[in-house]
Amino acid sequence: MKTLDDLYVAIDALHMEGGWHRKQPSLWPEPRANFLPAQWRYADVRPILVAAGELVDHHLAERRNLTLTNPLEGNWYATVRTLVAAYQSIKPGEHALSHRHTPSALRIIIEGHGTYTVVNGTRVEMRPGDVLLTPSWNWHSHEAVGPDECFWVDVLDVPLVHLLEPMFFERHPDRFEPVQANVESCPLAFRWEDSRRLLDAAPAPASGVAEREIELGSPAMKTIAIHVQRMGAGFTSTLHRTTANAVFTVIEGAGTTRIGEHEFAWQRGDVLAVPCWQPYQHRVTRDAHLVRVSDEPVMQAFDLLRRQ
Ligand SMILES: [Fe+2]
Repeated sequence: MKTLDDLYVAIDALHMEGGWHRKQPSLWPEPRANFLPAQWRYADVRPILVAAGELVDHHLAERRNLTLTNPLEGNWYATVRTLVAAYQSIKPGEHALSHRHTPSALRIIIEGHGTYTVVNGTRVEMRPGDVLLTPSWNWHSHEAVGPDECFWVDVLDVPLVHLLEPMFFERHPDRFEPVQANVESCPLAFRWEDSRRLLDAAPAPASGVAEREIELGSPAMKTIAIHVQRMGAGFTSTLHRTTANAVFTVIEGAGTTRIGEHEFAWQRGDVLAVPCWQPYQHRVTRDAHLVRVSDEPVMQAFDLLRRQ
């Protein structure tokens, strides 16, 4: 081996790379813009879900859902790096099969009454504004008994599990898990009226990210944090960024949010993707409640959470 080129050929042949001779750097000064700021409008999605309700029954789809794929080139699934969001609907008379999986999930109900979820044998109604949890490996099914078609936003940590690899998924051997208890409240259901009451009493967050903010659970699940934010018409939040990847769902109200170089006008039922370290700022035009779902507990656990 007389030359550097000879050396690199020998290194390549053993599937190695010289740390002084990388094709691309492995470290950089701060997070790179990667996943894109993005928005999905409920007004666009709802008619598609209604049409899917005519064309795709529960024999064809175990869940009638539309995943929100970040437009980052090459991305096939995730909404932000660690989370995937999806719109889902269920019609009266339908019963989505029981299954369980290692990814954790939650539901934010947008519209409709008369749909129940069964989590580990506990059956609880899902109502607009409620947030319901399905932690890792909990059995869950959904049942609509009427009167309405029900629409919600799911957020799961599936992309994180894809990255880490420990994916397990199983259908219930009896198709539907038996109901052991019908309840009005349970630790896995955050009721909208409770969230509103807690917001009434909550102090303004020092960061200025919202007028009032509460966290559901602390955190809600091991990998996912859920914050509910209240902002009145005329409120402008501070320009803020955090390493936590987040998905916002609009429960009610209207406004615009600047995320990086993009600006999005939003209203009830819309979803926004705010990727890691993208500065964002809300301007509210009609009294608003937003649910912010993030991977903050993951960032916190590994000393990777930074805010600015
Ligand atoms: Fe599921």
